[in-house]
Amino acid sequence: MRKIDANGFELPAIGQGGWTLGDVPMKRREEIYALRYGIELGMNMIDTAEMYGEGASELLIGEAIRGIDRDNIILVSKVFPYNSGSDKIFDSCDGTLRRLGVDYVDLYLLHWREDYVNLEETVECMEELILRGKIRRWGVSNFDESDMAELWKTPGGDRCAVDQVMYNVGSRGIEFDLLPWAKERSVGIMAYEPLLQAGQLKRMHPDVMHDETLESLAEKYGVSTAQIMLAFTIRSGSVSAIPKATSAAHVTENSEAANILLTEDDIGRIDAVFWPPSCKMHLDID
Ligand SMILES: NC(=O)c1ccc[n+]([C@@H]2O[C@H](COP(=O)([O-])OP(=O)(O)OC[C@H]3O[C@@H](n4cnc5c(N)ncnc54)[C@H](OP(=O)(O)O)[C@@H]3O)[C@@H](O)[C@H]2O)c1
Repeated sequence: MRKIDANGFELPAIGQGGWTLGDVPMKRREEIYALRYGIELGMNMIDTAEMYGEGASELLIGEAIRGIDRDNIILVSKVFPYNSGSDKIFDSCDGTLRRLGVDYVDLYLLHWREDYVNLEETVECMEELILRGKIRRWGVSNFDESDMAELWKTPGGDRCAVDQVMYNVGSRGIEFDLLPWAKERSVGIMAYEPLLQAGQLKRMHPDVMHDETLESLAEKYGVSTAQIMLAFTIRSGSVSAIPKATSAAHVTENSEAANILLTEDDIGRIDAVFWPPSCKMHLDID
């Protein structure tokens, strides 16, 4: 599995998403199997949040990783903005660790920013969590370039390892400013919804899984449209994608997508249909 550098922290170029996992009891076995299989195939980074199913996702992931060498798994979880102050974050983090059944998470992210979040205090708390051995590194999510610039001016803010944001063929706004900003500082970008929720994000594209250009590139490489979308998302070498998959076939495809190296010509063909940004665009948030 290819790796990316996230401010001194190494992450696989493709990991596994955890949103909705654990929501439907009948799907538990399939979801657990998929996560374990994905880890075997090198997608050993699993993303979750205290928000997902009010802890159900963390519980399911905890069950899935039981018995697997902890050192071989990279767990990412996120704290609600309203729990990110010194009065709540330590309990929140303990709750996450309890549900996951582990002593530490590898990355702990502020899920999104609200006006009431005191960045300086949150950074201090994140660093304190590192000192207490509860997290290895911290990051943010849904931060635009201006938020990151503000974070960088906050004491200790430049220790941020990643910014997890929406990034896919249909949502390329970050290429204008956030992506180059992050690359210059070696901050990892973690791309969520890299498959536009298998085409469900209709506002980004009406039918992305059947787009002719992506289909023709898929044919050229003998892969699927989804794999081309993932290869596109991680092409810069500073982005890691976290597709969610519960079918074994999807898990296999996603892990293999890290081996596809698109050419300049391929990217040009994608650019002609999924335009790159020519001006500042608001960060897409889901
Ligand atoms: N920080 C944030 O605010 C934020 C927001 C949204 C999401 N996220 C994170 O990002 C992760 C990914 O986003 P997402 O789950 O919303 O959407 P996604 O990964 O873009 O799409 C998931 C959908 O794609 C399908 N799929 C997976 N691999 C496929 C393949 N190779 N071919 C065809 N279909 C495939 C899945 O089906 P099956 O399940 O049937 O395999 C599922 O329906 C989340 O799970 C979550 O961890 C973070």
